[in-house]
Amino acid sequence: MNEIKIFAPATVANVACGFDVLGFCLDSVGDVMVIRKTNQKGIKISRIEGFDLPYEAELNVAGVSALAMYKTVHVDYGFEIEIYKNIKPGSGIGSSAASAIGSVFGMNELLGRPFNKTELAQFAMKGEALASRCDHADNVAAAVFGGFTLVKSLSPLEILEIPSPDNLYVTIIHPQIEIKTSESRAMLPKEVKLQDAITQWANFGSLIHSLHTNNYELMKKSLHDVIIEPYRSKLIPHYNEVKKEALNAGALGSGISGSGPSVFSLCKGVETANKVRDAIIKTYSKTGIEFDIHVSRINTEGVKVLDHKLE
Ligand code: HSE
Repeated sequence: MNEIKIFAPATVANVACGFDVLGFCLDSVGDVMVIRKTNQKGIKISRIEGFDLPYEAELNVAGVSALAMYKTVHVDYGFEIEIYKNIKPGSGIGSSAASAIGSVFGMNELLGRPFNKTELAQFAMKGEALASRCDHADNVAAAVFGGFTLVKSLSPLEILEIPSPDNLYVTIIHPQIEIKTSESRAMLPKEVKLQDAITQWANFGSLIHSLHTNNYELMKKSLHDVIIEPYRSKLIPHYNEVKKEALNAGALGSGISGSGPSVFSLCKGVETANKVRDAIIKTYSKTGIEFDIHVSRINTEGVKVLDHKLE
């Protein structure tokens, strides 16, 4: 195989109470990438469409993760990467994670799959770190494994796959403003109150239990974030209104997707997710801020091959 076309999905990190450790994968939005073997050694980014991003491999998240992998394999050829970007950088739905995982997933396929999914996430973290200026794997884990994932530890990287009900859907609004992950991390406090930590880990444990047991009522009671949301919600125009409308329309819970500005609402069933979408559209249309909105099921597959060429 000499060339491969892949789909690198968008992801939601944090999921309210799981800052930096929990994520899930979306179906409806993602980047397309083509990875090709080349006679010339090294990593080259040959085409980028959709957004203005650097072509230098060392400055591009897809290039950085690709280089991290390339350094560990000893081959007499190189790789060329084309990126067709649909996920807007700074949107809060794992744009950098998709690019970072897409390149290494494609290369791994062309190399005959020497690396497992956790190893791919490890390489992708290097690219992700370029964008957020720190190590976190909650988006890349969900992008590579699909479904819900829990990052048990970063060193060594340990990722757990968490089941979720088949009928769980998400509505995501993306107000057209950009929030840089690095900046929205820098505003977070270095310490938290013990009482807040107790509330947060009770909610987090309950959320994980609800996903294992298909318990929507418990999920609804658990989707609360008392630590991060009070700081970051200030960056998102009309955040509280979106949340209120979504809950009134039947969402189980809403929260900031990753570092924002996207806001996710988990819903039982596609009908409720559509109702939540309509309610959010109604309220956000009045703000004068442009936005995209999607309804997606939980993508249990993660990054995947679309097509390949043998030549
Ligand atoms: N956990 C990360 C953060 C995700 O919230 O900063 C960034 O997409």
